[in-house]
Amino acid sequence: MSIIINGMPVAPPTDPRVSLLDHLRETLHLTGTKKGCNQGACGACTVLADGERILSCLALAVQYEGREITTIEGLAEGDALHPLQAAFIKHDGFQCGYCTPGQICSAIGMAAEAKRGVPSHVTGDLSGAFSMTREEVQERMSGNLCRCGAHNGIIDAIRGTLSADIDA
Ligand code: FES
Repeated sequence: MSIIINGMPVAPPTDPRVSLLDHLRETLHLTGTKKGCNQGACGACTVLADGERILSCLALAVQYEGREITTIEGLAEGDALHPLQAAFIKHDGFQCGYCTPGQICSAIGMAAEAKRGVPSHVTGDLSGAFSMTREEVQERMSGNLCRCGAHNGIIDAIRGTLSADIDA
């Protein structure tokens, strides 16, 4: 069975030990998804699996047969950037850009979690009626590290876009 990557069916690796990250980067040459720590600690490899954010370095590619994977390459529509991509530019949400694809994919998954009423560690009201304060967004994005220190711009970009549609 194929893995659907950015809307295109692709063959899974023949070696079941290959991570989704390595399959994306090494086999399919979708190098927008970055390898940072390769052990689940930095978030650089975040992609969306059926709309949920996952760390592709910790996922075996064969686990995702029949599932839909969205990477940073699948977000823009032709020359039209995804609203979150545009917001990262507007708010200086990056410096070197290495963590940016993971930040953007993570933010899309995070927004979907918030829409479903999933609380975070800092959510006070567990009824699902919380607002996406700065602290709330910071906590929800805390798995995505930026070694340049662009976190303020990243949070501004995400919060500035949350009121708009940031679905994948
Ligand atoms: Fe996957 Fe760092 S490369 S979390």
